[in-house]
Formats: sequence, C-alpha cells, structure tokens
Amino acid sequence: MLFSQPEQQLSEEEFRLIRDLIYNHCGLFFDSDNKYLLDRRLLPRLALHSLSGFRDYYQFLKYDRKKDEEISDILDILTTNETYFFRESFQLDAFTDEILPELKSLKQKDRTLRIWSAGCSTGEEPYTIAMLMLEKNCFPGWRIEIVGSDISHRVVQVARKGIYGKSSFRSTDQRYLERFFTEAPGGYRICDEVRELVTISQMNLFDANRLALLGKMDVIFCRNVIIYFDQGSKKKVIESFYNTLRPAGYLLLGHSESLMNVSTAFALRHLKSDMVYQKSAVPTGGVAK
Ligand SMILES: C[S@@+](CC[C@H](N)C(=O)[O-])C[C@H]1O[C@@H](n2cnc3c(N)ncnc32)[C@H](O)[C@@H]1O
Repeated sequence: MLFSQPEQQLSEEEFRLIRDLIYNHCGLFFDSDNKYLLDRRLLPRLALHSLSGFRDYYQFLKYDRKKDEEISDILDILTTNETYFFRESFQLDAFTDEILPELKSLKQKDRTLRIWSAGCSTGEEPYTIAMLMLEKNCFPGWRIEIVGSDISHRVVQVARKGIYGKSSFRSTDQRYLERFFTEAPGGYRICDEVRELVTISQMNLFDANRLALLGKMDVIFCRNVIIYFDQGSKKKVIESFYNTLRPAGYLLLGHSESLMNVSTAFALRHLKSDMVYQKSAVPTGGVAK
C-alpha cells in the first residue's frame, strides 16, 4: 500500500519568518497575497533538503553553511530572470548617441570607462552594451570595463558560458548576430571580442562589503530589478548606486521604474531618445527619506 506524504502547509508565522528573511537578505518583499505562491514553490525544497517542515526550512535558510546559495536558488524560483539582447532600444539609443559622446569628451584625460549592469540576469544586457560600444568604435585605446552582476548563481553561470537560444534574440538585428556570434550546440556563442570587455560576477545588491570592492562607475544600468523591491529597499539600493557613480555619472532604470518618492539626489535628464537619471557633477543632494 502507498502512503502519501502529509501535505505541508506554510503557517502564517512560518510565512512571515521566511518572507522577512528573504527581504532582509535581498530586498524582495512578498506581501500576504503571495503566501500561497511561497507555499507551493518552496514545498519541493523541503524534500530536496530532506526537511520535515517549513520551520526546519527556515532554520536551514538562517543557519546552514549553504544558506546564501539556497536563497539564490529560491529567488530563481520566486522571481523572473526574463531578459534579452537589445532590450528597451530607445534607452540604448540615448546611451550610444548621447551619453557615450558626452562621457568621451568628459573623460579624455584618463581614457577609462566603467559601466555596471546591475541585476544582469543571464548576461544579455552587459553583452549588448559591449556590442554597442564595439560597433560605435569610438573609444580606440581606452580602457573599457563592463561589469555584469546578479544575485543568482544559476544565471551568472549562464552569462559566463555565453551561449544563447532563440528567445534571447527576439529584438536583435541580423547584423549583430553575424558579427558577434558563432553557432554552437544549444544556440549561438558570443564572440571573444565582446566577452573580453565584460566581467560577470555573482553579487547581491544589498551586500555593502561586496559593493565597496566594485570601484567607481560612469554608468549604471539597473533595469527591471528594483520593480520587485519595496520602497525601503529601493532607497537603499539607489543610495548605493549614488555612492558608486562618479560625479556626472548616469543611472539607467527600466521603463516602468522611476525614482519618484525614492531619491531626489539625481537629475532627470530629457535626452532625445529617452529620459535618464544623472548624478550631479558637483554632488549635493541626498537620497529622499
Ligand atoms: C528581470 S531580470 C532583469 C535583467 C536585465 N536587467 C534586463 O532588464 O533585461 C531581474 C534580475 O534581478 C536580479 N536580482 C533581484 N534581486 C537582486 C539583488 N538583491 N541583487 C542582485 N540581483 C538581484 C534577479 O536575479 C534577476 O536576474
């Protein structure tokens, strides 16, 4: 006779404990409407780690040696890593046609450019930035560094591998595919010329120690990431971005994201193709409380 496993149910208290633990770790907030989602999606983790209930799972998330890895894995289950090459093309036009020329004249002396794609998922965003810069070919002899980072170990591995299937190319012009990719098992491999400009790291945007090692940036892309954060988390992350940017540096958010009620420290610049945020050349403001 087969005995079915007793159904585990996430109690109100367990929900709050796990929800707050995730929130404190990485800023993602699940309100009580998401209790069922957490319950269903986290249930298979109990069996995976041979745990008898959600209370034990909470202890696992709090104290186990592999707790950071587990939180990164469950974020993959609970959130979306949706991304593709050349996403939000208006903003990319503003970047190539207006921001880059401005930075080029501003940084003639030290001839370095550092760009961060924060929450880059499987890497399409930082590689897009690299392709655009290579195509523009207007920084000969400059030191260009593009950093792509994400909290999820899984997507970071995909980004490092650099092989992409059809859905990543839904808005890629054929000429980019021909110039920067070669066919490979499972899709198309990004070429070394692009990879050499990009460093991919696993990084939690709320890990202040890790962020401190990053160094100053000229442009930060953080698109379709803070949409999942509550107001308090947004403020924390935007303040870190402010401190990481050089004076006159740019912050590019996703189209449905804004700094309204989050920060007054940046100026909203109306460029020809899009609106972007810029840190003052002489820093003055602060992050809105
Ligand atoms: C929807 S994807 C956006 C990818 C890309 N920026 C784009 O716009 O196409 C959001 C990414 O943010 C990452 N993320 C969420 N919270 C994070 C955190 N606290 N630290 C770093 N990355 C985080 C997720 O793992 C996910 O890969």
